[in-house]
Amino acid sequence: MIFGRVKSLDAIRAAAEKKSLHRSLGALQLTLFGIGCIIGTGIFVLTAAGAQKAGPGLMISFAIAGFVCLVAALCYAELTSSVPVSGSAYTYTYATMGEVLAWIVGWALMLEYTIAAAAVSVGWSGYFAGTILNEFMGISLPTALSAGPLALGGVEGGFINLPALLIALLITWLLIIGTNESAKVNAVLVAIKVTALTIFIALTVPAIELAKFNPFLPAGVFGGIGTGVGVVGAAATIFFAYVGFDAVSTAAEETKNPQRNVPIGIVGSLLFCTVFYILVAAGAIGTIGGQPIMGPDGTPWPAGSEELARQCAMPEYAGALVCSNEALAHVLREIGYSSIGNILGVAAFLALPSVILVLLFGQSRIFFVMSRDGLLPPSFAKIHPKYKTPYFVTGVTGAIVAVGAAFLPVGQLADIANTGVLLAFTMVAVAVLVLRKREPDMERSFRTPLVWFVAPATIFGCMFLLVNLPLEALLVLPVWTVVGLLVYFGYSRSRSHLGRGLTEVHEPEIHDIEPSIPGVDERDPLDPPKTPPV
Ligand code: ALA
Repeated sequence: MIFGRVKSLDAIRAAAEKKSLHRSLGALQLTLFGIGCIIGTGIFVLTAAGAQKAGPGLMISFAIAGFVCLVAALCYAELTSSVPVSGSAYTYTYATMGEVLAWIVGWALMLEYTIAAAAVSVGWSGYFAGTILNEFMGISLPTALSAGPLALGGVEGGFINLPALLIALLITWLLIIGTNESAKVNAVLVAIKVTALTIFIALTVPAIELAKFNPFLPAGVFGGIGTGVGVVGAAATIFFAYVGFDAVSTAAEETKNPQRNVPIGIVGSLLFCTVFYILVAAGAIGTIGGQPIMGPDGTPWPAGSEELARQCAMPEYAGALVCSNEALAHVLREIGYSSIGNILGVAAFLALPSVILVLLFGQSRIFFVMSRDGLLPPSFAKIHPKYKTPYFVTGVTGAIVAVGAAFLPVGQLADIANTGVLLAFTMVAVAVLVLRKREPDMERSFRTPLVWFVAPATIFGCMFLLVNLPLEALLVLPVWTVVGLLVYFGYSRSRSHLGRGLTEVHEPEIHDIEPSIPGVDERDPLDPPKTPPV
């Protein structure tokens, strides 16, 4: 039965309480953690793909995607305030709609975190090749080594995106040897990103020419289901720029007064980024223009397509925003601030790897919780004897990320990651409604305001964005889900701790999973990147 095997909230809370993670995070640290996860490739790179889909209407796309995330964040906030444990949407679904749907959500979250990490690696590669190699060292990386092959949506002459592959492997290695981004490093990286965007806004917004916004909606509002163009098509892609705020909820077990601070961290970081993003989009398009390159039928060439790559190779589009791999640095160079453009490029070069790290980390946390529930093999939580980290799962995840990053273009990766996120957000909103009905008196220190509007708006908004993704990305989700269900019914269902009646009796801790290794209980190797007192 699809709604069978619902895990009791008490069991979930009890399991979390048994883990003695140190509660050190406050509201400000969580907000910084959120901003650290959110600002990345989406704004620094995908602004170009967004403009190719919507033109100046991209500003509205940012507002639409921000609104959908905001209503989703309000739902997340209620659940984290009542079920302040790890596992995010997977755990909430387990507690409300049962194991099968929880498995589907956990499986979709893999798509979110793994593919998103690959997308950010490719985004980083653009800044590395453009700013560090080209501008500073005068080295022009051949296309064969800086982009995926045409057959997979890369560019002509492309074979492998070597920098993206290497950064993914480097971050995987750092995680395996136990590097956690410390609070101070996170605060510094957030400061770098926010300063870079502030300078960008300060230099571009005053220079805006209104004429650059005309025509404002060259590709219309609705490009049509599965086309991925128009204002809503761009919103569906640019949604990626907001992905990550849900990672705040994974830090619930490390938060002081989580019922109060997690909602503040989630909503606060999201509102902050929404305002910034709209201003950045206005500054970029209002200065150098952001009209899409149109095909013969009057609709934009798909972002990341072979034909767009060909058009971009023509001299007339040399300075076009929609052709740039390092959109924001490119804008500053075009308006005469070359050195500041390069500094912004360095900021992206320094800060984007931390987003990859957090995403890979989030993935290992999801694997850990699913493995703790018996749905994934215990080996997924195998701990390295020396580094005390879940090296096996980190290595496997990192290898998948590296392959994705090496061969696929950033826009496609982001779109695929979005499908997983949109499904997870939908389930979170459903979970809020189910719990309001089923446990109306449960203590909730944060209650989603206007829940009968906000939760349906989340569900509708997410489904709406999902169908406005390009068809290729849209189709990945059902295929991925079918594969997941095969794994579930072939392996996980019979081994589920809940199904075997084990959950209330025994929730293995990480040191239970690998009892032969001494000393692993000294700390939780899956302790997420800390953002303690700055
Ligand atoms: N929101 C994150 C980014 O844009 C994933 O890189």
